[in-house]
Amino acid sequence: MNANMRKEPVSVKERNSFKKLLIEIPKAEIHLHLEGIASVDTIWNLIQKYGLKIEGVQSKSDLKKKYYIKNLDEFISLYINVIQDSFKEIEDLDELFHDAGKYLNRNNIVYSEIFFAPSRFLLNGFSFKNLIQKLTEGSNILKKQYHTDTRFIIDVSRSFGIDNAMRNCNLTLKYLTDYIVGIGLGGPERHGPAKDYKKVFEKAVKNKLHVVAHAGEDVGPESIWDAIKYLNVERIGHGISAILDNELIQHLADQQIPLEVCPTSNLFTRRYATSYEDHPIKTFYEKGVNVTLNSDDPALFGVDLVDEYLHLLDHGVFSMSQLLKILKNTIYATFLSKKKKDDLWAQAEKIITANGFTVDR
Ligand code: ADE
Ligand code: ZN
Repeated sequence: MNANMRKEPVSVKERNSFKKLLIEIPKAEIHLHLEGIASVDTIWNLIQKYGLKIEGVQSKSDLKKKYYIKNLDEFISLYINVIQDSFKEIEDLDELFHDAGKYLNRNNIVYSEIFFAPSRFLLNGFSFKNLIQKLTEGSNILKKQYHTDTRFIIDVSRSFGIDNAMRNCNLTLKYLTDYIVGIGLGGPERHGPAKDYKKVFEKAVKNKLHVVAHAGEDVGPESIWDAIKYLNVERIGHGISAILDNELIQHLADQQIPLEVCPTSNLFTRRYATSYEDHPIKTFYEKGVNVTLNSDDPALFGVDLVDEYLHLLDHGVFSMSQLLKILKNTIYATFLSKKKKDDLWAQAEKIITANGFTVDR
């Protein structure tokens, strides 16, 4: 057996060379929220700039402490009422793109599909047109300064109801640019069953947008079935409660519906995973499900994409060759053209082979 296929603890030397390899490989990330990349410094500067009053927050370290949430609802409240609410002027988003550039660059992510949730920004008086212009501008900056390609998925959101989601979908279609690839459904899963958003997603699909949804992050397998049945999603955000339903695991494997798995995020929100070791991703992989690896909200959960790979290695969940297969899955689960996926994977594979590593089949 090749050294990088072993699952027992790897030596420090092997781990270091795998980490070096992981950084060197050009990667994709497909489940990442723009506002979740905002550094503590960025949010703290905005809080000070506008003199915002946030309960229990008198200092930057108080703010950081707020990030230790105990469940998804608490997280969404932090996300909307603290993080998103700190942005008051369109220029405030500039710093966010710098944070994104640094994150993407240090992880060598050359292509990403990033969620942006406009609802709270619109309620705070931003115009959709200006927000979309900013996404275009930001994407151009990321390309020029950090040599990374970015596309956006508009999170129509469960947080503000069905009419708001339809409005977001309509606005997305009205102001569509080449930088927007689709819509997604994020927010509090418990309070927004997928079937409520059927019409919104039908409209998006009819207009050739890609569609994804967070499902099975905070609610059982029925939520994943509903996202597939009612929303016709092409990928599932998280999907980890599928671990409770063998028929669903089989369906996901048969249909090769990619799961956008974000292990560290799941440990924060504490529903269907309590440790890396017992994270459902292992069973999914063994049963042939198309799993991809992502960070979700890297600044809020204090995790880089490269760390997500390393955590699964360090905790004996996957061998190096299995992790490289998951990296490949992630590239192939993007909404890039087949040619671009093949090109990106060819670059990655060349580096893997040159360094003497192999990819699980
Ligand atoms: N928005 C940002 N992160 C999210 C998550 N993990 N689940 C649902 N909505 C989100
Ligand atoms: Zn997410």
